[in-house]
Amino acid sequence: MSLLDLNETQREIQSLARAYAQRELVALAGERDQESRFDRVMVTQMAELGFFGMLTPERFDGLDLDAQSYLLALEEIAVADASAAVLLSVHNSLPTQMILNFGTEAQQQRFLPPMARGELLGAFALSEPEAGSDAAALRCQAVRDGDDWLLSGTKAWVSHGSEAGVILCMARTDSPDARKGSKGISTFILTPDLPGFHLAKKENKMGLRASPTLQINLDGCRVPGDRLLGEEGQGFVYALGSLDHGRLGIAAQAIGIARAALEAAVRYAGERRQFNKPIADFQAIQFKLADMATRITAARTLLHAAAAAKQRGEKITRFSSMAKLFATETAMWVTTQAVQVFGGYGYVTDYPVERFFRDAKVTEIYEGTSEIQRIVIARETLAAAAA
Ligand code: CAA
Repeated sequence: MSLLDLNETQREIQSLARAYAQRELVALAGERDQESRFDRVMVTQMAELGFFGMLTPERFDGLDLDAQSYLLALEEIAVADASAAVLLSVHNSLPTQMILNFGTEAQQQRFLPPMARGELLGAFALSEPEAGSDAAALRCQAVRDGDDWLLSGTKAWVSHGSEAGVILCMARTDSPDARKGSKGISTFILTPDLPGFHLAKKENKMGLRASPTLQINLDGCRVPGDRLLGEEGQGFVYALGSLDHGRLGIAAQAIGIARAALEAAVRYAGERRQFNKPIADFQAIQFKLADMATRITAARTLLHAAAAAKQRGEKITRFSSMAKLFATETAMWVTTQAVQVFGGYGYVTDYPVERFFRDAKVTEIYEGTSEIQRIVIARETLAAAAA
């Protein structure tokens, strides 16, 4: 049930993703979460469906889907397994888009086809232990050494960092005393085989436990000159521009998590009897379900309006932040209500709603916290009013 007016391709990709997710992901999601297990089988399956190249042009072995089709597929995957959804979202939205938009023909030819085929998973390394919301304060330093660059520093919160074959890494290329701020940052295409590239701490997370999140240490990591992406000093703009797109993916993931929680709550409310009737007969439960369904529908409608604007080539910074903010806060609220509908059974691992609740939380944090989204929306709103 949705308000979206979908075309045939969009309905097809939605059905394909739903069928796959329900057939292969649902049954294993709880186990993968409990064991904190990233499953390569899932990568192979999703690669066969072309899901790692959803936004990649056909000439690079991609499916070349429109933004809405991609987001519909992501929602379906997230309903079944939010950890699988973040893998697809980061890979398709951030590294793939950055190479597509700013890479040379040689970089595109080398990296995009294996990425689209799911042979090389892409990751994104912007944050550092001391630079999260204030991303321009990052300190990882790149210095020239002949034709190469030497990168030193620690990147943090890298989703599926241990599984990635290509990592788009933001580092400073200005000198430490030049203090060029966001203009002193460049982007490098790293691969784990580079000397001085080390996987470090694996985070022990509250949710999305089947998606490994890593720190990466760069210890004089030698990066060939042809791995600089686009123009020196433009890395911050590339990263934030890509996050405009990435945040749509996180919104779709959040909507999927919320939908899974609502569907579970509806089922349970019909089965669970108290005071001689199903709890679904009580208005206290009905009102919760009504509010959950309304917020999810509103979030999806906003997201797809933003995606349609992107498809028309419009700048969507503000709408992308709105969609992410609204969808992720919806996911947290809906999953909280779902736990309440389940009562004590919502608090234990016998049912999946406690996982949905844990998985929802990070969507309000990564790819920009809710507070950062409000800053972006306020800035854009004030600028539009002043123009
Ligand atoms: N698109 C393109 N360019 C943009 C942009 C956008 N959306 N937003 C800003 N820029 C440009 C600006 O135009 C400016 O360039 P000029 O000076 O040439 O005009 C430059 O970037 C600097 O912009 P600001 O002055 O606005 O920068 P700021 O330091 O004030 O920061 C911010 C703005 C919005 C707070 C930003 O730092 C931000 O979004 N922070 C959150 C970071 C974030 O989302 N991190 C998530 C990391 S990924 C992750 O979560 C892990 C994962 O794997 C899932």
